[in-house]
Amino acid sequence: LKIQDYRPESFIDFTQADNVVAYQAALKKVRTELVGKHYPLIIDGVRVDTAEKLESINPCDTSEIVGSTAKATVDDAQKALDGAWKAFESWKKWTPDARARILLKASALLKARRLEACALMSIEVGKNYAEADVEVAEAIDFLEYYARSAMKYSGFGAAETTWYAGEENGLMFMPIGVGVSISPWNFPCAIYLGMLAAPIVAGNCVIAKPAEDSGLIAGFVTDIMLEAGLPAGVLQFLPGVGEEVGEYLTTHAKTRFITFTGSRGVGLHINEVAAKVQPGQKWIKKVILELGGKDGMIVDETADIETAVTAAVQGAFGFNGQKCSAMSRLIVVDSVYDEVVNQFVERAGKLKVGTGEDNANVTAVVNEESFEKIGKYIGIGKGEAKLLLGGETPGEHGGKQGYYVQPTIFGDVPADARIAQEEIFGPVISVIRARDWQDALDIANSTEYGLTGGVCSRDRARLEQARNEFEAGNLYFNRKITGAIVGVQPFGGYNMSGTDSKAGGPDYLANFMQLKTVTERW
Ligand code: NAD
Ligand code: ALA
Repeated sequence: LKIQDYRPESFIDFTQADNVVAYQAALKKVRTELVGKHYPLIIDGVRVDTAEKLESINPCDTSEIVGSTAKATVDDAQKALDGAWKAFESWKKWTPDARARILLKASALLKARRLEACALMSIEVGKNYAEADVEVAEAIDFLEYYARSAMKYSGFGAAETTWYAGEENGLMFMPIGVGVSISPWNFPCAIYLGMLAAPIVAGNCVIAKPAEDSGLIAGFVTDIMLEAGLPAGVLQFLPGVGEEVGEYLTTHAKTRFITFTGSRGVGLHINEVAAKVQPGQKWIKKVILELGGKDGMIVDETADIETAVTAAVQGAFGFNGQKCSAMSRLIVVDSVYDEVVNQFVERAGKLKVGTGEDNANVTAVVNEESFEKIGKYIGIGKGEAKLLLGGETPGEHGGKQGYYVQPTIFGDVPADARIAQEEIFGPVISVIRARDWQDALDIANSTEYGLTGGVCSRDRARLEQARNEFEAGNLYFNRKITGAIVGVQPFGGYNMSGTDSKAGGPDYLANFMQLKTVTERW
């Protein structure tokens, strides 16, 4: 396969008027061509509709049904599983080059429809222009990066073994079978696509179960994968309810692996049920979990305050704080606390609230359940700490009903308060006062999560200490703690944040392979 080295996609500059005009044209096109569309299941390459359907609601205007998908039953899940195992018999024999070409073709197709994918997410989940664009760039990067990674595992001797007289010894990386990929709504294009493309390019077949709130963008990119040439059955598109088809597949004896990104509660449940061996089951299921976070960023007295405040605003409120990587705790050393917090509150207070389509800074949160949950935590916060900004959940904006929550900041939050320990997943930030640097680091490490983290400091010794001691899978110094780039910042957390499998990292594909050592005596 002759291709240039991997380079991440650059982002679109929306300070340029012509890019804004192009985005608005894409919104129009999506409203004409994709809004109202229905995506059936795809099983063995055949589109199959179901009696019931799942509707996507525009979170910024809940009177609008954006479109729908079929809603798979357990019978459909069984058919998908059976068909995928049949497809596996031939797919596993394709060369890594041939499989990779399909990802590269899909990347080319997605590049050509980049703004459409963005615009669809603005309407379906409320992403503003830059947030949607960064996500589609990430999706393209996953395809390009995993296509190249597949080459690394090609052939006998792909991994180093020591020479031994009189024998040929070598290691083979082999695909493992059929797995289920269960994804969240917050990165409904990039995570959905990355989590299916990686196992597929490694030679496995995948049943993709997108989140209930974001079935349209999942249908859109699934079509791209099939248009790129995936044989029937290699990718089964199975939108449905997590507790129904998700549960059926994760507990099933014929499921070989599960790759899951979502909440801690659901992830731990999957881990538990997948561990139970079912009658007829021949293997220990591989379970890859990417879960939540309660990500903290420390600002110490040596920090550049302007840099720190910019990092805090971006990390906290990008996509309304609905990122596993979002900065939900700002930990500030006492001597600069007032200065940092005043500026943070002032800057956050200027954020424009509105729709994704209008490119607001903060838009509506994804659904009623999130809206209610965030509102409940704001209530808890009012009893635990000092409200510095926001604190209301208006539920409407500009005459439109939607899941609008004000950017909300609580100050002097005790480190062990519920709002400082539990993932809220919305624009609600806890600012915690630390006595000094060491206290700040201890506070940062005081949750059960370990996903992203950050330090704004100009003290070299402290940065080196944090490098070793800050418990985070992705640690950032003197910048925002969100926005990992494929290949540049392999992404994934430890502790209760997941199995640290590092999506977009050099060894990610190995999660979906098994190794065989073969020895031939001459
Ligand atoms: P969620 O856990 O509610 O749902 C995730 C997926 O699991 C959905 O597709 C859902 O249908 C499915 N599901 C639900 N119950 C299931 C069951 N019993 N069996 C099988 N599948 C089931 O999460 P969400 O609200 O969609 O996403 C937000 C969460 O995801 C947050 O906690 C966030 O931190 C986390 N997240 C983590 C990462 C990461 O890389 N670590 C990235 C993005 C999001
Ligand atoms: N990969 C996403 C980020 O880094 C979640 O923000």
